[in-house]
Amino acid sequence: MIKNVGIIGSGTMGSGIAQVAAAAGCLVTLFDVDQQALDSAKQSLEKITNRLVEKGRISSQEKDALQNNIRYVNSLKELAHSDLTIEAIVENIEVKKKVFQELEGYVSDTCIIASNTSSLSIASIASVLKNPSRCIGIHFFNPAPLMKLVEVIPAIQTSKQVLATSQTTIENWKKVVAVAKDTPGFIVNRVARPFYGEALRIYEEGIADFATIDHAVKSVGGFKMGPFQLMDFIGNDVNYTVTQTVFEAFYNDPRYKPSFTQKRFAEAGYLGRKSGKGFYDYSQGAILPVPENNPVLLNSILERILVMLINEAADALFLNIASAKDIDAAMTKGVNYPKGLLAWADEKSIDWCVKQIDTLYNHYHEDRYRCSALLRTMSLKNETFF
Ligand code: NAI
Repeated sequence: MIKNVGIIGSGTMGSGIAQVAAAAGCLVTLFDVDQQALDSAKQSLEKITNRLVEKGRISSQEKDALQNNIRYVNSLKELAHSDLTIEAIVENIEVKKKVFQELEGYVSDTCIIASNTSSLSIASIASVLKNPSRCIGIHFFNPAPLMKLVEVIPAIQTSKQVLATSQTTIENWKKVVAVAKDTPGFIVNRVARPFYGEALRIYEEGIADFATIDHAVKSVGGFKMGPFQLMDFIGNDVNYTVTQTVFEAFYNDPRYKPSFTQKRFAEAGYLGRKSGKGFYDYSQGAILPVPENNPVLLNSILERILVMLINEAADALFLNIASAKDIDAAMTKGVNYPKGLLAWADEKSIDWCVKQIDTLYNHYHEDRYRCSALLRTMSLKNETFF
């Protein structure tokens, strides 16, 4: 039973994870090297929990208990009594390795040492520990208190016991766990790439503008946000870097090729909402672009993006990155897709998916549009995912 939880890094993710663990009744020790980061984490948690009381979501006793469950510390040694530690510091493998080595010197032999990294190899981080079998990836989504999904990533060194305890603990924190193989992007950051990449490609080919592509994805597909709205929300700098990291980690597989359009937007400082301008203008009084309303065009845009997403999800299953159930849960609970992609493939028919992707491949002759072998086999055997 995990009771004492140490969190390393009190930034966006660390403070959110601390809130989740404290709300579930764990005693949390939140550590940061930067006193200012600790102070602002404390202030922001007070603000958030006060608002939850105002909205009637929690009682003021629950708020007090939650706040009292978190201790803010500026020394790593204070995490000595932890049953589980989750690291959420800067995304730099050398810095993370150093912290993990130091931490192992303080905690007990049974303490689980986890990382919230979104892109680094868990096997590599674990390799610096004397006991690498206690290391695992526990990947929350932003904002951690609101997003239901947590990807749990055992490295090749991780023990079965550490995986089982991590999974149970996160479920006790009222989250949905998707277990993923230790591969670039895990599930969500891999499977979601075509949502951005194919939308950018459609724009670059001059098929439609940002507003029309977003409109297609929302009105025909039922997505809450269009790809360009979402890239503006995430930030073009951040989203571009994730794509580039995944692309390089997959030895330049053209399926993940980053886009010049997005690179230029990031270079120009058109980062999105946070800079006031991205694919859209967020200044006061800005005139919103009007999308085209041609149903045939809208449908073809949605189908092209959707089939590329389905292909990616199918390939993740083919390569045993996660189970079909976890892949669908990851996309609906981690990035709020209206339906699981594999369930969507069943609905459209596997045969339809194969034909759509083959049509793209036959037209472009680019490896980017190669159909997953799993879809092809399933189509021949008349199989479905569920
Ligand atoms: P952040 O920049 O908001 O916070 C990082 C915190 O770590 C800062 O307060 C900094 O002072 C502290 N820190 C840096 N080096 C430290 C050290 N050696 N020891 C102790 N504290 C140190 O970063 P954010 O966004 O919270 O990301 C943290 C981790 O979570 C990264 O690995 C990131 O890839 C991952 N992640 C981020 C998500 C996001 O949307 N921001 C989503 C999921 C994962």
